Amino acid sequence: MSKNIDWQNLGFSYIKTDLRYVSHWKDGAWDGGALTEDNRVHISEGSTALHYGQQCFEGLKAYRDRDGSVNLFRPDQNAARMQASCARLLMPPVSTEKFIDACEQVVRANLDYLPPYGTGGALYLRPYVIGVGDNLGVRSAPEFLFSVFCVPVGAYFKGGLTPANFIVSPYDRAAPNGTGAAKVGGNYAASLLPGLEAKERSFADCIYLDPETHTRIEEVGAANFFAISRDGRFVTPKSPSILPSITKYSLLHLARERLGLEVEEGDVFIDQLDRYTEAGACGTAAVITPIGGIQNGNDFHVFYSETEVGPVTRRLYDELVGIQSGDVEAPAGWIL
Ligand code: COI
Repeated sequence: MSKNIDWQNLGFSYIKTDLRYVSHWKDGAWDGGALTEDNRVHISEGSTALHYGQQCFEGLKAYRDRDGSVNLFRPDQNAARMQASCARLLMPPVSTEKFIDACEQVVRANLDYLPPYGTGGALYLRPYVIGVGDNLGVRSAPEFLFSVFCVPVGAYFKGGLTPANFIVSPYDRAAPNGTGAAKVGGNYAASLLPGLEAKERSFADCIYLDPETHTRIEEVGAANFFAISRDGRFVTPKSPSILPSITKYSLLHLARERLGLEVEEGDVFIDQLDRYTEAGACGTAAVITPIGGIQNGNDFHVFYSETEVGPVTRRLYDELVGIQSGDVEAPAGWIL
């Protein structure tokens, strides 16, 4: 490794890597795209991304295998989700082929930043599409930019696979028929204040309830939620304002196919948490963070333990991380 990086202690913070990919859309088509060393984005002050939040992004990871080869985890799923986000924000889609090609180019160009096998780190890829070009009114941009950069990362929540506590937020993250299911910056901007208020009270982040009735769990900070019911089912909330997490759907598949559990997308009522023995936050960045307890008003509910990882959560984690690092056989098409 030629880079002076402390692989064992990577958090989730930006560092500039060598090359990123950039492609422009103008007059109805994307150009061929190219790699650049420049990590600054030079755009018009009238860009819709700046004023009206016309932008979306993705997050996926590349992992170093035991034998040194590189695994990209389900990039086709991120491509599809970005196409859906682009459609919701009236932006031109990036084809799956172009998306994967861009990710592969960025990984190849930054191989020295890929954490070694066994360190628990990964190369996080951040693709995004933004509306650019001269504009003033609330309308779709005349031009767009698609870029992918990468950063070596470790755990998103401090401690990785150790339980963290969360608090129910008084704020909503997304409206019932709004943009909650799209990976757009506005959802995350709306989460900054609730997240800060949770951290000020020593919680890792907050739990968002459904914006319509405030009775059901929807998300955990910037991650999805799952729980294991007392009768052994893998349960995860279903709602049009939840971001469809690729990690969550991967866990649901693994719970059913590898752990032999019944799975359910349904309601997780905040006043019925004693139905569950384990709970977790999951996402590309969070991987799986076990939820120790949830504060809801004056009530603090502990799931499995505030310090120990529950047995089903651990099995799911081992299966997922094993697949990503090539130690466990992957379902067809999951690893590129
Ligand atoms: C991810 O898990 O990739 C996310 O997008 C979460 C957050 C870092 C925005």
